[in-house]
Parts: sequence; structure tokens; C-alpha cells
Amino acid sequence: MIKGVQNAPTQASLPLKKASATQASSQVENKDKSLQAINSHITVLLEEAVDALAVKSDGVYVDGTFGRGGHSRKILARLGGNGRLIAFDRDLSAVESGKAIHDVRFTIVHSHFSALQAKLAELGIRKVDGILLDLGISSPQIDEASRGFSFRFDAPLDMRMDQSRGLTVAEYLATATEQHLGEVIKNYGEERFAKQIARTIVAQRNDGHAITTTGQLAKIVAGAVTRFEPGQNPATRTFQALRIFINQELEELSLTMPQCLSLLAPQGRLAVISFHSLEDRMVKQFIRNQENTDHLPANFPVRAADLPLPKLKSVGKAIKPSLAEIKANPRSRSAVLRVAERTSAI
Ligand SMILES: C[S@@+](CC[C@H](N)C(=O)[O-])C[C@H]1O[C@@H](n2cnc3c(N)ncnc32)[C@H](O)[C@@H]1O
Repeated sequence: MIKGVQNAPTQASLPLKKASATQASSQVENKDKSLQAINSHITVLLEEAVDALAVKSDGVYVDGTFGRGGHSRKILARLGGNGRLIAFDRDLSAVESGKAIHDVRFTIVHSHFSALQAKLAELGIRKVDGILLDLGISSPQIDEASRGFSFRFDAPLDMRMDQSRGLTVAEYLATATEQHLGEVIKNYGEERFAKQIARTIVAQRNDGHAITTTGQLAKIVAGAVTRFEPGQNPATRTFQALRIFINQELEELSLTMPQCLSLLAPQGRLAVISFHSLEDRMVKQFIRNQENTDHLPANFPVRAADLPLPKLKSVGKAIKPSLAEIKANPRSRSAVLRVAERTSAI
């Protein structure tokens, strides 16, 4: 019993009218809470990623994936009065939430990060001291049913991070060939039943059943997948694949990493958090290729001094969330942070 409130009425003991007023206010409170939940994102590897940037007080930094600004706020807290932070997000609601940061050192840009160099040039910025990419989607995107990212809800099948442009998944499914669909699901979802899923989707479509909701898609996939990891929804891999494809996530990353090389000043840091092996492999490979510039066949007659100088040096090993972080935020479980430092090579 709570001290001092032994005689506090329970809801059941209140007269009916009073009880409904309480119910109404608790409904409002619950709605507020669920809106809050939809609007909040628990930042993954917060300390680790911002530490990795080795923020200099008067440095210029880029957060390529603002989300709800967890990393951005921490970077701002470490910057001095002359520092600058430019944040990007392709999602309009993320950008809206960024507008709540009233800080002269901070700028938020609505753009995909593959336009990094061009957008920074428009702001008169040619060199930066650190770039952070926290890839993938945010909790508000997954948890807002109408965005169509999740099989937990039945909602229009959209999945675009930037709802101001591009095809929705429903539009893609309406026209994709069976072969293209199969390749997307196999390559981006590493799904072994990709062919069967593609065949079933196209058969449904040819029978006149347009696939326009997450619920319909999840049901079709569940019918085509006969084996999947325990505890996992059979549609997990297909949803991941379609999301990656529709948002061109891998293309975005491969277009952006070379720009980071050009933008980073010597000793500038690149920190990338990936959430699946396809991205992590790309990041690892990119850093490795820039670090080890000898890509010539063994015994190729070239002097070591004639090889191009490495442009990146990796910093430490890949960092994963601690067990405590995973327990507090299970969505962090697949995160991997890789960090590299720009050398002075041109
Ligand atoms: C994992 S969340 C970032 C969360 C953020 N670090 C925080 O602490 O709140 C990823 C965000 O990056 C955005 N995003 C993903 N790919 C993008 C891209 N190519 N260009 C710009 N934004 C992108 C998504 O819209 C999403 O808001």
C-alpha cells in the first residue's frame, strides 16, 4: 500500500460518472503514451558512436541519419560554441522532429544521404571532421502502422522512408516480374523460399487479388515459407528485402561512402552502424579496400612505394551492443558499429 493514500478510492469504488471521467482521462493518457511511443526511438550505441567520432569542440560534423536525434543531441552536447552539426534524414517526420532543436550550431536537411556532398556544398561546407551513419529504420517508422513497414499491423503496404517520392511496395508488387521479385527477396532478404514467395505473389495478382496491405502480404508469405527461424515471423525476411529494395538502401550506402572519403578532413572519423549483414559487409569491405590499397595480383611487379597511399585507417574492432543494451532495447541486437579515420592521403 502506498504511504498516505490508504483510503484512496479505486476506480471500481467510484460513482459511475466519476469513473468514466477517469477512464476518459486515462484513455487520453494512453493515447498520449502510444503517440509518444510512436514518436520515440531508443538510440543504439549512443556513447560508443559519439565517442568514435572523437568530437572536436570547434569541428564540423554530419549526422546522416537524424531519426529522432539521439546521436545528434549528444554530438551537440560535446561541441563548443563554434562547432557545427548538419543532420540529414529522408523521412519528413524525422526532419519535423529535428526542427524542435533550436541551436544556431545545428542545421537539419531533408534529403537522402547520397546527396551529402552536394547538399553540404550548398551550405558552403567542403570538409568535415566526422560523419555518422546509423543505418536502417527508426522505431517511429516501424511502430507507426500507416507507414506499412511492419507485419504486426494491417496497413497500406508503403515502406517508403521518404513518402514524398518513389514507388510504394504495393505499387512495386503490382508490376514486378516473378523473376525480379524472386531476386529481390533472395538477395536482400537472404530468404531461401524466395522463388516460392515470388510465384505465390504473382499468382495472387494474376487471379485479380491486388496485394495492397501488410496483412495480405504477411499471409501470402506465411503460406509459401515452410521453414523459418524459431520465434521469427515467416514474413521477416521478405519484409526486410522489400524495404531495402524500395528505399534503395544498399545503393545509398555505396554512393555515400566514397563521398565520405572526399569530405573528411585528415583525422576525420567515419562511424557507421549497420543492422544486417549485407550492409555490414559493404562497410567492412569499403574500409578494408581503402586501408589496404594493394589490390594487385600476387607477384605483380610494382614497388610498394608506387602503390596509392591508404585513405582510411580502421579504428579498433567492430563494436556491438552490450548484453545490458540488448536487454534494455532488443532492437539493438543486430547492430554493428565500424569506425575508420581519414588519413592525409589525397
Ligand atoms: C536508425 S534511425 C536513426 C536513429 C538516430 N540515430 C537516433 O538516435 O534517433 C535511421 C534513420 O535514418 C534515416 N535514413 C535511412 N536511410 C537514409 C538515407 N539514405 N538518407 C537519409 N536518411 C536515411 C531513416 O529515415 C531513419 O530516420
